[in-house]
Amino acid sequence: MEVVILPGIRQIAALAADAVESLLRRKPDAVLGLATGSSPLPVYDELARRHERGGLDFSRAYGFTLDEYVGLEPGHPESYSEVIRRDFTSRVNFDPQNVRGPDGNAEDIPAACRAYEDAIRARGGVDLQLLGLGTDGHIGFNEPGSSLASRTRIKSLIEQTRRDNARFFRSLDEVPHHVVTQGLGTILDSRHAVLVATGAQKAQAVHDLVEGPVAAICPASVLQLHPHASILVDEAAASSLKLADYYRHTHDHKPAWQGL
Ligand code: GLP
Repeated sequence: MEVVILPGIRQIAALAADAVESLLRRKPDAVLGLATGSSPLPVYDELARRHERGGLDFSRAYGFTLDEYVGLEPGHPESYSEVIRRDFTSRVNFDPQNVRGPDGNAEDIPAACRAYEDAIRARGGVDLQLLGLGTDGHIGFNEPGSSLASRTRIKSLIEQTRRDNARFFRSLDEVPHHVVTQGLGTILDSRHAVLVATGAQKAQAVHDLVEGPVAAICPASVLQLHPHASILVDEAAASSLKLADYYRHTHDHKPAWQGL
């Protein structure tokens, strides 16, 4: 796991976009794992900019989103399939056919979750998984208590997460209680995990993820078991890290050829 502490979200977005860009140049039909929430937005802005100005090409890429609410009608503006389309894939030349998310409206949710896992596997797995971080340490919608080996499945949201996400809805009552999410085991299978977290409200979760024990109480801590995880944080989100100076020193002295 590499922790990179940067002054602000612009530098974080540029570094995450560099990782996506070098992957796409190496492998034009790469599989991207796409996250929602506000944290990855500046990364999507930067990728859209590089597409417009530098011709960064997504035409052969594939996208799998992390999670979805259960029961929002198709096309609901806050369903994650709409959010990803609006915030990212429609702003670059992603083929809409190549973007898929878990189905929150399936009649048989367990079967749809299995089919989603099969679809990811059939594409050869996720090359680069973008992640945000919930204030309670969730990634995707894997709330505390999630099995560290879990696969795509239905979950119940914790009230804190519903309150955090109510800002996107007209009221808290409209925030669904159930979601489908890639599991922690699914996320662990990605070849490179890039997590973005900013702001003091994420400091405790960042500490638990990086320096706490690997434990279901902080689902993101499973990334300590990931062979290639990059944790990109600003100073405020890094403020509870014990080894912050060491992470800074390591990043500052990293050989230039190494990349993220
Ligand atoms: C939601 C998403 C997560 C995201 C989290 C944090 O709960 N399901 O994937 O990481 O929000 O969001 P934000 O980046 O807006 O703080």
